[in-house]
Amino acid sequence: MSGRLSGKSALITGSARGIGRAFAEAYVREGATVAIADIDLDRASRTASEIGPAAYAVKLDVTDQASIEAAIRAVEERQGGLDILINNAALFDLAPIVEISRASYDRLFSINVAGTLFMMQAAARSMIAKGQGGKIINMASQAGRRGEGLVAVYCATKAAVISLTQSAGLDLIKHGINVNAIAPGVVDGEHWDGVDALFAKYENRPLGEKKKLVGAEVPFGRMGRAEDLTGMAIFLASTDADYIVAQTYNVDGGNWMS
Ligand SMILES: NC(=O)c1ccc[n+]([C@@H]2O[C@H](COP(=O)([O-])OP(=O)(O)OC[C@H]3O[C@@H](n4cnc5c(N)ncnc54)[C@H](O)[C@@H]3O)[C@@H](O)[C@H]2O)c1
Repeated sequence: MSGRLSGKSALITGSARGIGRAFAEAYVREGATVAIADIDLDRASRTASEIGPAAYAVKLDVTDQASIEAAIRAVEERQGGLDILINNAALFDLAPIVEISRASYDRLFSINVAGTLFMMQAAARSMIAKGQGGKIINMASQAGRRGEGLVAVYCATKAAVISLTQSAGLDLIKHGINVNAIAPGVVDGEHWDGVDALFAKYENRPLGEKKKLVGAEVPFGRMGRAEDLTGMAIFLASTDADYIVAQTYNVDGGNWMS
């Protein structure tokens, strides 16, 4: 198949649904083969079979080192190597500072930060061994650009993702591995249904109200859709991005400028 990612082997964490799934669909359209790597294997398998033969499901828990290594091995065995990794799996939570639990803090940092770092490490080891470079794309967020009163932990994890992207980008470019990140704003989908329910609880709003508010505040005029992010994900994985190193790109309808 021809396309900008023709013949490439990609792994996308958390791609059973949401933005990761849209990335997988877009990569397959561009000619890549994609591992739908998710903690929810049933859903990953359904998603892979809906996308078609160029997608396959891999069980992955990014908080578990053995699971990370097994997932990379599965891709190597099936595809002969890994060319593109998207660190997309993440968890959100929300609470006022005086109510944040250690369990929530540990879980979010374990998935969003340690998961991103150790997936990058395992992918980089595999790419270095093959000797053909690669592309790593991390999912940051506008939440990583500044704090939010009720969102301290998630914001801190996404600021850490931006920082890890810088450090890994600087360290890995000597191996021909480009590490960059995408910072979305507010993207509609199952994830934001959960966010909306948490805001409803803590800001005493009816369900659905926060979503309407944040959508109306986007300069573009609406919430993002997963498909709004796919162009950047394809670009950063393509040879057009070979000279781009350690950057985080806002794709957010104008919410943040940096
Ligand atoms: N939706 C938004 O508004 C928005 C905004 C900014 C940034 N982002 C970021 O974009 C990315 C995708 O967001 P989304 O809205 O599609 O999220 P989502 O919650 O819909 O999907 C997350 C996926 O990750 C998987 N997952 C959770 N824990 C895992 C683990 N330990 N190991 C492997 N997989 C695991 C889930 O099963 C799920 O399929 C995330 O990094 C998120 O922080 C989203």
